[in-house]
Amino acid sequence: MPENLIRLSKSVIGPEEKNAVIKVLDNGRLGMGSEVKKFEDLLSKFFDRPALCCVNGTAALHLSLQASGVGFNDEVLVQSLTYLATFQAISACGAKPVPCDVNKDTLTLDLNDASKKLTNRTKAVVPVHFAGDPGKLHEIYEFASSNGLRVIEDSAHAFGTKYNNQTIGSFGDISCFSFDGIKNITSGEGGCIVSDDMELIRLIKDARLLGIINDTNNRFSGKRSWNFDVSTQGWRYHMSDIMAAIGIQQLNKIDYFSRKRQDLAKKYDELLSFSNQISSFKRNYTSIVPHIYSIILPKTTKRDLLREKLYSLGIETGIHYLPNHKLSYYQNPRLGNLLNTEEIAPRLLSLPLHPDLNEEDLEFVVRSLIENL
Ligand SMILES: Cc1ncc(COP(=O)(O)O)c(C=O)c1O
Repeated sequence: MPENLIRLSKSVIGPEEKNAVIKVLDNGRLGMGSEVKKFEDLLSKFFDRPALCCVNGTAALHLSLQASGVGFNDEVLVQSLTYLATFQAISACGAKPVPCDVNKDTLTLDLNDASKKLTNRTKAVVPVHFAGDPGKLHEIYEFASSNGLRVIEDSAHAFGTKYNNQTIGSFGDISCFSFDGIKNITSGEGGCIVSDDMELIRLIKDARLLGIINDTNNRFSGKRSWNFDVSTQGWRYHMSDIMAAIGIQQLNKIDYFSRKRQDLAKKYDELLSFSNQISSFKRNYTSIVPHIYSIILPKTTKRDLLREKLYSLGIETGIHYLPNHKLSYYQNPRLGNLLNTEEIAPRLLSLPLHPDLNEEDLEFVVRSLIENL
């Protein structure tokens, strides 16, 4: 690894998180307990509606889909250009992810394509807020409402983003977040589900603890359920107090993290505006909190070679994402082409973005990128 590598992404952890973890370790109760309750209460306040914590963002999606009644042989509309986790959460329910195209300008779900793929088995739509951008989310809700679909927002990239002045997660059907190590806030690993559908919340509360009825309440008061009943399939998907202790401290810093990410993305926009070879996405970084910063390379650029060159100069880059419909497990010959996805995906490159970067880092990244195209 080059010395002083400018990392693509990283956890930004201070003494507050370290001390909070030590406190949990000293207390000797590491599992799901009072810290998770506190984190959930703080998240519920942040979103102004019920939030439930779980072990990661994939589990948040899986639990939400299951509690929405998505099951065997059902179909779920989802953009192909997303992290594998979105697809796996759907297929984990026995349902079929139906890969759709994306809009060129936002890399969010293309509703024209999605509407062509509606069948009488379609149960839900999973819009992915790519790089923190919710696209035209109200159109997704209109589409879902006229077709009787649940909306499970994959908000893994969008913690802190606002849409029409409302925080993502604070409105709509169901919103799922990831708190993995590199997200806008982290709890080590972790995730949460936000919804005001109280029946769904009740189902997920039990399902995250192996389906044990009301175990959440016992855990929050330092007890366990010894005598219990189970009425649904559940999973070991709960969050631990160690994770929640980190998450609580990170949530305190959300304003700083958001501003830093937004300022860095604006700086990238400014630096890249001088290049007529590289396209960036026109996002509003006053309301969007970017999780990644992706660009479109010229058609002639050999991406792997460029990534190697940049790495040798001390710059780590990423690819978000390999389209899922190209993976053996999700291939479907009847699908047809996803034109925008197929054109853009091979040319996408993500540049370093995390709150520990500064403007000089970005200047070096963009200079090196342009010199090596
Ligand atoms: C778009 C998207 N969806 C879902 C997930 C899954 O979250 P997790 O890694 O916490 O399981 C991620 C995480 O990287 C993601 O980027």
